[in-house]
Amino acid sequence: MTTIGTIGSGNIGGGVARLAVAAGYDVVLSNRRGPETLADLVAELGDKARAATPAEAAAAADIVIVSVPLNAYESVPVDELAGKTVIDTNNYYPERDGHITELDEETTTTAELLQAHLPESRVVKAFNNIYFPHLASLGRPTGSADRSTLAIAGDDADAKQQVVEFLDAIGYDALDAGPLAEGWRFQRDTPAYTRPYFRADDSGEGRPVGREELAARLAEAKRYRDA
Ligand SMILES: NC(=O)c1ccc[n+]([C@@H]2O[C@H](COP(=O)([O-])OP(=O)(O)OC[C@H]3O[C@@H](n4cnc5c(N)ncnc54)[C@H](OP(=O)(O)O)[C@@H]3O)[C@@H](O)[C@H]2O)c1
Repeated sequence: MTTIGTIGSGNIGGGVARLAVAAGYDVVLSNRRGPETLADLVAELGDKARAATPAEAAAAADIVIVSVPLNAYESVPVDELAGKTVIDTNNYYPERDGHITELDEETTTTAELLQAHLPESRVVKAFNNIYFPHLASLGRPTGSADRSTLAIAGDDADAKQQVVEFLDAIGYDALDAGPLAEGWRFQRDTPAYTRPYFRADDSGEGRPVGREELAARLAEAKRYRDA
C-alpha cells in the first residue's frame, strides 16, 4: 500500500492526512515542533497514522505532501525525497512569508522554487487552490455528479499520474494544467483560486467545481503583472 508523508500537518497537511487515512492509506505526519506535538492528530487518525520528523516522514513515504508556510520551503529535507513524488500545496503570501524576489518579479513560480530545492524529486502542484474546510467536505466517490475537480501541474507524467490516482482515491477529479511553469494559473488571486469552491450565498459552505468550470477559470488567468 502507498504510504503518504506530510511535511507540515496543519490545515491542509492534516486535512489531506485525514482524507488519506479514510481512503485506506498509511500516513506518516511531521511538523516543525516535533512528533510529540502531533499526538492528538495521530490519536484521531488511529492505527494507520504515526508521527515522525520531516526527514523520517520523507524517507518512509511514497508520496510526500509539503504543506508549510512558503518561507519554510528551504528546510524541507532533500536527500530523503530524492526520486519521490512530492505534492506542493504552498502559496505565496508576502505579508506572511516575506518578499521573495523571483516571485515578486514573476521569473518563477512557487512550485518551481520547491522543485529547484528538490532537484531529484518529482514535484506536482496540487491542493493549493482550495480552502481547507472545503477540501474536507467536498470529496465524493468516483463518478459522483457533484464531484469536484482540483488543478494539478507538474513536469513528470508518471508523478502526475500518481497524484491523479491519489486524488481519485480521496474523492477528487484532477485537471492537468500543464507543466510546473503553468502553476501560476491557479496561484493566489487567480479566478481558479479558492473562491469557486465557496457557495455564492456567503454561508462559507463549499460548492462542487466541475472540470469545465475549472478549465475555463484556468484559461482566464492572468499573470499578476497583467492583471
Ligand atoms: N489554509 C488553507 O486553506 C490553505 C489552502 C491551500 C493551500 N494552503 C497553503 O498550504 C500551506 C500550509 O497552509 P496551512 O493552512 O495548512 O498552514 P498551517 O495550518 O499553519 O500549518 C503549517 C504546518 O507547517 C508546519 N511547519 C512550519 N514550518 C515547518 C518546517 N520548517 N518544517 C516542517 N514543518 C513546518 C507547521 O508545524 P508547527 O505547527 O510545528 O509549526 C504546521 O504543521 C501554506 O503555504 C498555505 O498557503 C493553505
